[in-house]
Amino acid sequence: MLAWSYRFATKIELVDTQHKRLFDLLNVLADSFQKEGPGEALINDALHQLVNYANKHFTEEEELMKEHQLDSRHFDIHHLEHKAFMYDIERLQNYLSIEEAAEKLVSFITSWLTYHILSVDQVMAAQIFAIEAGMSPEQAYDTHHIVPFDAVVTRMMLNSVLDLWHNSMARCNKLEDKVTELQEKLKLSVGK
Ligand SMILES: [Fe+2]
Repeated sequence: MLAWSYRFATKIELVDTQHKRLFDLLNVLADSFQKEGPGEALINDALHQLVNYANKHFTEEEELMKEHQLDSRHFDIHHLEHKAFMYDIERLQNYLSIEEAAEKLVSFITSWLTYHILSVDQVMAAQIFAIEAGMSPEQAYDTHHIVPFDAVVTRMMLNSVLDLWHNSMARCNKLEDKVTELQEKLKLSVGK
């Protein structure tokens, strides 16, 4: 379960409200496959709602950045992270059974949201406030593109990145096993 804490707050009402909603939808998804005999429909529905809401949230967050004309050095990376998130989710859904996917997605989304909100979204908010206070987008980026050091936040981000890395490694290992298996089959069929 991913619990909201003040450390996630960007102090932009729209963004915080949507992030809280994403946490709720993620927890609904986690619940949907932990309960006994939920059935595919329940998991599918929870997943569908979460992915749709994430998509809407990313669009609105990007609109907010455009309205404030955030420096492209920030906007481009931020947009790319949103795009990569949607791509990874789609891949996981396409290549796994719904139960397997739901379990992996909960772990992936938990780590991704933690890392993304504590880093990219926080510097986005800092740049928006700086622009509202009169800085140019370039100055705002130069002053606020690094997350200020906080030991707890750093530990949370590090744990999330390590989880994402472990999950990626597990997927790579699985792929390597599959490739080896196919190579063995190929050798056998050629040797016949
Ligand atoms: Fe974001």
